[in-house]
Amino acid sequence: MGSDFEIEGMVFEARDAVRPSACAADASDGAEARERVVSADLQQDDLALDRSLRPKHLGDYLGQSKVKESLAILLEAAKARGESPDHILFSGPPGLGKTTLATVVANELGSNIKTTSGPAIERTGDLAAILTNLEEGDVLFIDEIHRLNRMVEEVLYPALEDFALDIVVGKGPAARSIRLDLPRFTLVGATTRTGLLTGPLRDRFGIAYRLQYYAPEELAAIVMRSASILGTPVEEEGALEIARRSRGTPRLANRMLRRVRDWAQVRGDAAITEDVAAQALSFFEIDSLGLDAMDNRILELLAVRFAGRPVGLTTIASALSEDIDSIEDVYEPYLMQQGLIVRTPKGRQATAHAYRHLGIAPPQSL
Ligand SMILES: Nc1ncnc2c1ncn2[C@@H]1O[C@H](COP(=O)(O)OP(=O)(O)O)[C@@H](O)[C@H]1O
Ligand SMILES: [Mg+2]
Repeated sequence: MGSDFEIEGMVFEARDAVRPSACAADASDGAEARERVVSADLQQDDLALDRSLRPKHLGDYLGQSKVKESLAILLEAAKARGESPDHILFSGPPGLGKTTLATVVANELGSNIKTTSGPAIERTGDLAAILTNLEEGDVLFIDEIHRLNRMVEEVLYPALEDFALDIVVGKGPAARSIRLDLPRFTLVGATTRTGLLTGPLRDRFGIAYRLQYYAPEELAAIVMRSASILGTPVEEEGALEIARRSRGTPRLANRMLRRVRDWAQVRGDAAITEDVAAQALSFFEIDSLGLDAMDNRILELLAVRFAGRPVGLTTIASALSEDIDSIEDVYEPYLMQQGLIVRTPKGRQATAHAYRHLGIAPPQSL
């Protein structure tokens, strides 16, 4: 990719919109993320092992059983008919396995996958270049598909519906529209924000799957699998301890496993036991619920300094010298999901669960 191409006198400039690997397109996910151990965004040190740990087939993809069952039927049926399956959308928080599923779909179909992302396709010509380079049966994976711009999206619609590309040739009165046939392909889209997807785009996916946070037992199975690929001895209880602290997210579970492995190796532990995992993760300031130091500072602020009263976002941010956006986008969602804080019209409040977690008595009102 990257070379310009010409259709009837119109030159499309092909930017480097198709990236060679899924990881490269993924890297932009984590651009604004701080390097928190508990951030589910892709980080530099994840990349190295990502390739070896990423499941390639449905059989190695653990958890998400509803999604897997339905996907298996969809892919089986399409293969039996010798057709490309419907376009597929995967949504859900970062690190749950959307990119992995896109490659699994291609592998199960025995198809090639071309990977790009919403922000990488800046102009309609970029998309035209990608589409005209597809081959029959290919999987086109567009990560962060909610970040496609409108003009590019308009070109995508007929491609998805009729496998056709409408392009305008010439200028002024001589301009005319011609339609190019495209090979039949399957679009796999991934998004962390379904709410930001336009209606027309959403409607063009034949099927949409929402990935859920993983249960500790499922994450423990992922940790066991990763540990065996890495050749790291881990006991089941050790895997479960890592799983409990990984916020329901496989990317985090794999990252925690690597931290614990290093820690155990330096200490000369033979295997990762429950105790080793707990000690190592506490050393890295990740507590029993997977909260890091900053999460706990937020809870303490609400529970102790403000004694359980509602506190405005601006107050929280300034008390902790953080910016408002990261409190709201990075820290708060997991704390709310765990029922540790609640949002009220007057501000954020610590719950009884937060007091229990901090090991202090809740006020009478709770
Ligand atoms: N179901 C799963 N089973 C095993 N490993 C998984 C699973 N889902 C994700 N992973 C691991 O977690 C990492 C992050 O997954 P990824 O697909 O990149 O997440 P997303 O694209 O949703 O941010 C992958 O490298 C893979 O190793
Ligand atoms: Mg991804």
